[in-house]
Amino acid sequence: IDENTIVKGDKYLLSRALENIIGNAIRYTPNKGNVFISVDRAVNNYSIKVRDNGIGIPSHEINAIFSPLYRGEKSRNRKTGGSGLGLSIAKQIVEKHKGDIQVWSSKNQGTVFEITLPCVNE
Ligand SMILES: Nc1ncnc2c1ncn2[C@@H]1O[C@H](COP(=O)(O)OP(=O)(O)O)[C@@H](O)[C@H]1O
Ligand SMILES: [Mg+2]
Repeated sequence: IDENTIVKGDKYLLSRALENIIGNAIRYTPNKGNVFISVDRAVNNYSIKVRDNGIGIPSHEINAIFSPLYRGEKSRNRKTGGSGLGLSIAKQIVEKHKGDIQVWSSKNQGTVFEITLPCVNE
């Protein structure tokens, strides 16, 4: 990665967004599962992928997960649960930085979240 190429933004907000996504990957992946994180540079943006092979998100829930307070059916009764705010906050932060957040998932297979953020040469 070119050290002169940076993402401009609020480091506290951006790290909070990433913490939410990585925290979910850890929380929703059983012991002995894996969480992989990659960062790739494209021409005009960085792509950060957080991939896990955990419980996955059923297709009927995928459109709801970015809504404030929404928690998946399998997540609601967990003792280690969150507030259901993490992804809605992460999405707002990423969009505030003119980036994008996408998800691919299948139940019992795993999940990939991709955050793309525009970058500039300094
Ligand atoms: N990596 C993941 N694997 C499986 N389900 C996930 C993952 N990330 C998010 N989810 C689902 O999306 C829902 C919303 O996520 P989030 O807004 O962070 O709330 P929560 O506080 O429940 O973690 C979660 O309740 C969970 O059902
Ligand atoms: Mg969460």
